[in-house]
Amino acid sequence: MKALVLSGGAGTRLRPITHTSAKQLVPVANKPILFYGLEAIAAADIVEVGMIVGETAKEIEQAVGDGSDFGLKVTYIPQSAPLGLAHAVLIAREFLGDDDFVMYLGDNFVFGGITDLVDEFRKDKPDAQILLTRVPDPTAFGVAVLDEKGQVVGLEEKPERPRSDLAVVGVYLFTPGVHEAVRSIEVSPRGELEITDAIQWMIDRQHDVRSTVISGYWKDTGNVTDMLEVNRTLLEGLEPRIEGFVDAESEIIGRVRIDAGAEVRGSRIVGPVVIGPGSVVVDSYVGPSTSIAENCLIRNSEIEFSIVLRDSSFDSIRRIEASLIGRNVTVTLSPRVPATHRLVIGDHGRVQISS
Ligand code: DAU
Repeated sequence: MKALVLSGGAGTRLRPITHTSAKQLVPVANKPILFYGLEAIAAADIVEVGMIVGETAKEIEQAVGDGSDFGLKVTYIPQSAPLGLAHAVLIAREFLGDDDFVMYLGDNFVFGGITDLVDEFRKDKPDAQILLTRVPDPTAFGVAVLDEKGQVVGLEEKPERPRSDLAVVGVYLFTPGVHEAVRSIEVSPRGELEITDAIQWMIDRQHDVRSTVISGYWKDTGNVTDMLEVNRTLLEGLEPRIEGFVDAESEIIGRVRIDAGAEVRGSRIVGPVVIGPGSVVVDSYVGPSTSIAENCLIRNSEIEFSIVLRDSSFDSIRRIEASLIGRNVTVTLSPRVPATHRLVIGDHGRVQISS
């Protein structure tokens, strides 16, 4: 069995972060979201991974390499443009050969991994197996309709009026039967070859398409709110560990990981919090559900429920909450007179100011 991991695409909902980096590499609890998926694949005893890459190919390749850090063997498959999930299967034909495979969307996060699902598929061998979960607003997802026996009878991609609340999760299992399906479907009105259409094609031809409704935790981390939520959940399971320097004036409460080379002085850290190597926190408060990556500086500031990417700094700022801060960002106070905000913000930036 192989895996096909989709790490192309544009990441428009995470702009401006994704102007300069791949959305699959945004860190949660200081580790790129994509790495959790790769670890889940390795844990399911899959070794050969085809990685679909687009315009951020270089960055993904730099981060993942040949996959050996994960116990995987990674083959990169360039996609000229994000032409759809089924298009990704189409161009991976040679890599996939006649093997069964799991298709994993690189920005999805499945809590608890995929091992049980993959084992069940290996045992039962349906033509395809999808995962579904109930969501309050299904319009942003593929949506499935089941009959009274729980069999999938219909699939629709991002319907305006969803016929159920069952969203398609970004982990799919296929036998080689899917290749004929992706070759047979037409481009959708939004200009993509949809995997939902390919699965519908299989259902219409009486292929055995099964579904599992999961009640466990799943997130498509395509937007900031979901990213912060996954970060919060992951930090709840954080192993507390203080390897960096903490001075006697500082207070560390709850689950806190301070990596080697980090420094905390005169500050109060209320976990769960992770502070990456080389980061310095001085005279500040860092509150629950915050991940600070490497080489950041938090001075005389307050921050909580946020993700800060590497090399960023805050000086004399209170208070930052529910924020996703990119790399190399500097936030400082403007001069007191005149009382103004001075902003240099990238395209598609979003700023909420309290006064
Ligand atoms: O997250 C689950 C949803 O994923 C499903 O419910 C939908 O049925 C499915 O179409 C998909 O919808 P999204 O709009 O979330 O897909 P997105 O464009 O964000 O792409 C998902 C991942 O696949 C992302 O890591 C980028 C990558 N990708 C996407 C496309 C369209 C590629 O590598 N190539 C592509 O052509």
